[in-house]
Amino acid sequence: MSIITELTRMWLTRSTKRFTFRKEYDEQLPFAECDNLGLYVHIPFCKKVCNFCPYCKVIYSKETCDRYINALIQEIHIVGQQYESRKKVTSLYFGGGTPALAADRIKEIIDAIREYFIITEGIGVELHPDNVAPEILRVLKNAGVTKISIGIQSFQHKFQGILERNNIDTVSMRNALSEVSFETVSMDFIFALPTQTYEDLKMDMETAFSLGANHVAIYPFINFTFTSSKVKPLPKKQKREMLDRITNYCKEKGYVRNSIWTFSSEERAGYSSMTRDNFLGFGCSATTLLKEQFKINTFSIEEYCNRIDAKKLPTSLTIRFTLRQRMVYYLFWTAYSTKVDSRAFEMFFGVKLKKMYGFELRLAKLFGFVTEENGIYSMTLKGAFYYHYYENFYTLAYIDKMWGILRKEAFPEKIEF
Ligand SMILES: C[S@@+](CC[C@H](N)C(=O)[O-])C[C@H]1O[C@@H](n2cnc3c(N)ncnc32)[C@H](O)[C@@H]1O
Ligand code: SF4
Repeated sequence: MSIITELTRMWLTRSTKRFTFRKEYDEQLPFAECDNLGLYVHIPFCKKVCNFCPYCKVIYSKETCDRYINALIQEIHIVGQQYESRKKVTSLYFGGGTPALAADRIKEIIDAIREYFIITEGIGVELHPDNVAPEILRVLKNAGVTKISIGIQSFQHKFQGILERNNIDTVSMRNALSEVSFETVSMDFIFALPTQTYEDLKMDMETAFSLGANHVAIYPFINFTFTSSKVKPLPKKQKREMLDRITNYCKEKGYVRNSIWTFSSEERAGYSSMTRDNFLGFGCSATTLLKEQFKINTFSIEEYCNRIDAKKLPTSLTIRFTLRQRMVYYLFWTAYSTKVDSRAFEMFFGVKLKKMYGFELRLAKLFGFVTEENGIYSMTLKGAFYYHYYENFYTLAYIDKMWGILRKEAFPEKIEF
């Protein structure tokens, strides 16, 4: 555990109490009381596994995928039935793995969700570039999908080679995207790869917008310890220069920064499953964040199906937050959108943000990390970089450790940070 994350945790939670995840769970999930609730569904199958990817996934087989989706639909029923009327939720996102591999069953899953939830801001699905074909897009659109996100990583052969990804047929991608339209067409890129320059990233972004994307996500490359990738990300100075220059470039072009790593060319475009106050997750490895707890489902497809067959929730670990821990969690994910609204914080916790974190906010202003207007704190370019930098520590200290354990053990006793 890095000393930086440890000290930051103690400082911000005003306590030496660690974040403790235990092998326990509530059969009844108290989501009825949650506003701004999002939904997430995980589909853990890929045609080929990429060596750099940390997500929970296995090689696709129709048989396992079908068994898994049957169980997934049961999990939706088990949770949905706990609340007697249909609950309003903001969005539904399908992530993976490669959810589009199960395109023919997405409607069935959405129908099960709609029995219990009213989705107000649309449905998003992640695609691999190989899935961007008119037949698949049409199936998704007819199922009610309004947003798609395509994992490009890079359009350039050099970086595709570094990541061991195949070349992309941009002509058929453009044709497919012009044939079947979506409110948001997002494309994901990985940056800070060895020898990569700002010009390379800019070119990738421009290609994305020219092919029909109206939203782009650029993720800094993270070298997870449990993956087999040998790729090392660029050093901090070069990463910062790339992020600053690309942000300025997007500003000049009139693109809107919707979060630390995402930019859109049209106002209607948006793709983010992260910036929700609360969310319910279904499927292997999916997480659920509620007012006082966070839980994570088992990473094992076999154990997931076994639990559901026994009519039990497939939760592996739960953390019950102290108030300060929940506040830190809230601020961390809200800051991801580059803005924190003090009124929204007060509505959520019933206490003023300034009262809880007045000193930190003054410090952040003093160091030029944030500016304040009408109670809304907005991150500066510098603030966004340091958030990103700290997030990297967080990912390596918390997510890397947790996912590293959960990939090997379906139900560990306890994980502590
Ligand atoms: C579930 S994948 C996207 C959909 C699809 N499976 C694909 O690969 O095209 C989600 C995204 O996470 C990002 N990602 C995966 N591994 C990463 C890593 N080690 N560092 C940074 N970003 C990563 C990639 O941009 C990827 O598109
Ligand atoms: S990057 Fe996408 S295709 Fe590759 S293993 Fe991860 S989820 Fe699967």
